Amino acid sequence: DENKRQRLLDAHKAAAEFYAHHLFRSAEGVVARRFLDDRGFAGSHAEHFGLGYAPPGWENLVGHLRRKGFSDQELVEGGLASQGRRGAYDRFRNRVLWPIREVTGEVVGFGARKLNPDEDGPKYLNSPESPIFHKGRILYGLDLAKRHISREGKAIVVEGYTDVMACHLAGENTAIATCGTSFGEDHVKILRRMLLGRSNQGGKVVFTFDGDKAGQKAAARAFSEEHAFSSETYVAIQPDGLDPGDLWLQQGARSITDLVENAVPMYEFKIKDVIDNYDLETPESRMAALEAAAPVVASIRNEGVRRGWGKNLDRWIGLMDEGYVLQRVNQH
Ligand code: GTP
Ligand code: MN
Ligand code: MN
Ligand code: MN
Ligand code: MN
Repeated sequence: DENKRQRLLDAHKAAAEFYAHHLFRSAEGVVARRFLDDRGFAGSHAEHFGLGYAPPGWENLVGHLRRKGFSDQELVEGGLASQGRRGAYDRFRNRVLWPIREVTGEVVGFGARKLNPDEDGPKYLNSPESPIFHKGRILYGLDLAKRHISREGKAIVVEGYTDVMACHLAGENTAIATCGTSFGEDHVKILRRMLLGRSNQGGKVVFTFDGDKAGQKAAARAFSEEHAFSSETYVAIQPDGLDPGDLWLQQGARSITDLVENAVPMYEFKIKDVIDNYDLETPESRMAALEAAAPVVASIRNEGVRRGWGKNLDRWIGLMDEGYVLQRVNQH
């Protein structure tokens, strides 16, 4: 109910303050500050995004919130603590924390990264589903990005928390990310509503994903939701597999704006991804490429758009027979 919800929000607000305090104003926080610094994130950057540090130990946050009047049950239900045999213990220990906020600015969960690869547990540990935290419906960074998305009619979807930070710091402040889950139908709905904004034009969505296997898989899943956008969908992939977080550190802000600027329309990416496997030097090779790429074009629902990409396919393959290409497309 409403009262319980408010209690969990209050607990998260207090937790975010506690963690931020430990990042910036505790001796233990030095390791986390150095971690962020090594990634090109200065103190002011960390502060802007409200980052925190969960110190090592089992009852740091639990003890703090108990003293503030929260019950163990509330902390466990909110995902801030886990239930042990002798009471609740801290879920996040010795990790850098990204508070995950609703568009209203309320903290509803955390994304937490371990500092060293050799430590126990997954690289990222997120808050579990709770009465206030629903992974399928939340987008990290949306509280900061929302007004830019509506105003510019554009959104950039990236993979992780550090990528959102890097994009915003580079001036690409429409960047958002899912929280350790794939980009799903509800995410599409939320973005589409914002993109529509005042105009009725649909807007532009740019997906950037890691060049690695996991990133490609994420991209494929996200694209399968594409039909739900009435907007234009673009893809930006770094050929050398660097994500925006890496770019920020290694090549600077300009490389991120370049990445976004050089995004290609999704269907160009998808079609070229297929025909790049053929040398196109013989009629046989060109026909094989056409057969492989035709289903991609055939999957486009809008007839005019389908014909347009069919034309482009013809041009890229070098068949010089638009009518024949469209005929093959229609047979799929
Ligand atoms: P950094 O080294 O922090 O830059 O991470 P990365 O760029 O290698 O992150 P990666 O591309 O592997 O992950 C992107 C996003 O996927 C993260 O922000 C998380 O939300 C999620 N993720 C990554 N690893 C894990 C994991 O071990 N568990 C869970 N639940 N989510 C993960
Ligand atoms: Mn802007
Ligand atoms: Mn990755
Ligand atoms: Mn990455
Ligand atoms: Mn990264």
